[in-house]
Amino acid sequence: MKRICMLAVITLLISGFTGCTQTDKKPKDEHKEQLTEKQTDTNVLVAYFSNTGTTEGIAEMIADETQGTLYEIQPENSYTEEDLNYQDTDSRSSREQADSSIRPKILKSIDHMEAFDVIFLGYPIWMGDAPKIIHTFLESYDFSQKQIIPFCTSGSSDITSSAEVLKALVPNTKWLSGRRFSKESSPQDVQKWISALTSTHSEDKTKAKAKLYLKINNHVLETDLIDHASTQALLALLKEHDLTISMRDFNGFEKVGEIGTTLPRTDESLTTKAGDLILYEGNQFIIYYDVNTWKLTKLGEIKNCSENELKSILGKGEVNVTLSLSKN
Ligand SMILES: Cc1cc2nc3c(=O)[nH]c(=O)nc-3n(C[C@H](O)[C@H](O)[C@H](O)COP(=O)(O)O)c2cc1C
Repeated sequence: MKRICMLAVITLLISGFTGCTQTDKKPKDEHKEQLTEKQTDTNVLVAYFSNTGTTEGIAEMIADETQGTLYEIQPENSYTEEDLNYQDTDSRSSREQADSSIRPKILKSIDHMEAFDVIFLGYPIWMGDAPKIIHTFLESYDFSQKQIIPFCTSGSSDITSSAEVLKALVPNTKWLSGRRFSKESSPQDVQKWISALTSTHSEDKTKAKAKLYLKINNHVLETDLIDHASTQALLALLKEHDLTISMRDFNGFEKVGEIGTTLPRTDESLTTKAGDLILYEGNQFIIYYDVNTWKLTKLGEIKNCSENELKSILGKGEVNVTLSLSKN
C-alpha cells in the first residue's frame, strides 16, 4: 500500500514529462567527446550531469552564452534504462535518491578547478532532488571563493528545494538563485536568464574587492568595479600582469582598444556617462567620455574625475592606458 502511494506521489510529481526512462541522450561524435572539458579562456565553468540529453542541451547554451568551459559530470558506472526507472522503488536511481549517504563515483575530475570563479551547475531533477552524483561533485572541490549558479531540467518540478539541499552541502559559497528549464527551453530563454542574473547582480552595486587603477601618461585614476563574472575575469588577468591597451577615439564619445583576449560578457542595455568603463563584445575595453546607448557590459567607473578632466587626461587621438591592480 505504502509503495503504491509513493508511486502515485512520484507519478503526480513528474506528470507531464515523457520518456524519462529512455537513455536517449544523443550519441556523441568524436569531436564532442573531445569537448567534454572544453577549455576556453574565461573563468566560467558549466558543469552538468545528464542522461537523456536535456540538461546537456541547456549546459551547451549556457557555455555558448558565457564562453564558459563545459564539463560533463560522468558517472563511473553509467545509468541504464532500468537504473533510471523511477517507478521501480528498487531501481538504482530510486535507491540512490532514498539514501542520503550514497555518493556515486565520478569518472573524471577537473584538473584546474582553481581557474574557475563562477560555476553553473546543471542536473536533472530526480524524485524532486538533484541526483546524488551532484553531491559527489560538490564534496570533491573547495568552492569557498567561488560562486555557484544551479540550473536544472525536469518534467515539472521546480528547482527551489533541490537547490536548498545543495546549498546546505556547501554553505561557505556564494549561491545565486537557480532556474529550471524544460525540454522546450530555447537559447533565448537561456540568454534572458543570464542577462537578468547579471543585471540583478550589477543593480545591487556590489563592488569588487580588488581595486583597478588606470595609468594614463602621468595620471593614476582610481575606479570602482561592479562585481560580476566579467570583472572577476578581468581581475584574474591583471593578477598575472598589468595590461597596456592602445586606445583610440570612436564616434566622439569613447576611447576603445583591444584587450587581447575574450572575457565573459554580462551585457545589458544601458546609457553611458563620462567615466564609465565598458567591456564591448567581450574583447574590447572602452572608457566613455560622453553619452551612448547600446547593449554593453559595464565593468565599473572612474572615481573623482569630472568629464572635462577626463577628456583632458585622455587627450585626442591614440593613447596608451595601463590597467593595473597597484597604484604605483
Ligand atoms: C530517475 C528519474 C526521476 C525523475 N524525477 C523527476 C521528478 O521528481 N520531477 C520531475 O519533474 N521530473 C523528474 N524526472 C524527469 C527528469 O528530471 C527530466 O526528464 C530531465 O529533463 C532529464 O534530464 P536529462 O535529459 O539531462 O537526463 C525524473 C527522471 C528520472 C530518470
